[in-house]
Amino acid sequence: APNPNFVIAVDGPAASGKGTIATRLGAAYGLPVLDTGLLYRAVGVLMQRASEDLDDHEAAAAAAAILTSDLLDDPACRTRAAGEAASRVAIHPRVRGALMDFQRTFASQEGGAVLDGRDIGTVIAPDAPAKLYVTASPEVRAERRWKQLTAQGERVELADVLEDIHRRDARDGGRDAAPMRPAADAVLLDTSEMTIDQAADAARRIVEAARARW
Ligand code: DC
Repeated sequence: APNPNFVIAVDGPAASGKGTIATRLGAAYGLPVLDTGLLYRAVGVLMQRASEDLDDHEAAAAAAAILTSDLLDDPACRTRAAGEAASRVAIHPRVRGALMDFQRTFASQEGGAVLDGRDIGTVIAPDAPAKLYVTASPEVRAERRWKQLTAQGERVELADVLEDIHRRDARDGGRDAAPMRPAADAVLLDTSEMTIDQAADAARRIVEAARARW
């Protein structure tokens, strides 16, 4: 049966523009938006606060189980270290399983929802009527992320951010559990040469076409 709620899945690699696109789509359609990367970031933050080993899947699953949504607003989740920790805890199947209910409940809100992440179109909401896979070149993404981090007051070199991007792409795309990849029915959107407004407009047109078919 077709999904009765208008769910928009926005997947893609780190700093591709998917977060901004998801926010703009949510505003355009009056739908709530969930940045699912924050869930994994929050698990990473909890583990780092408790000095746990990020590779310890038992400890990671325990952190995911006690996660509360107030932590998602903590600026600690937005740091470079939290992004790296998130990518590491995200390889554990039990962490992904523990976060699944929250995401599916969010996606099943009446009217619909926008979710951005890595596996929304493939695993969390495979029957979403609109799916985008947002990409950009590693160099463009590194530059965007570097600007964000610098604006937040983090001191970091562009070359190190580019290295982070390559490492995270390899880890997020190479893991066994729900690897980052476009769903078969996702529309690819490369934002390398686009401004934020151009990318948001292009995303809007893709979603309009999906809405017409829904
Ligand atoms: O979107 P982000 O950069 O905030 O995500 C941080 C990490 O969390 C990302 O490198 C991999 C993981 N993640 C995931 O595995 N699945 C998602 N749906 C969202 C994020």
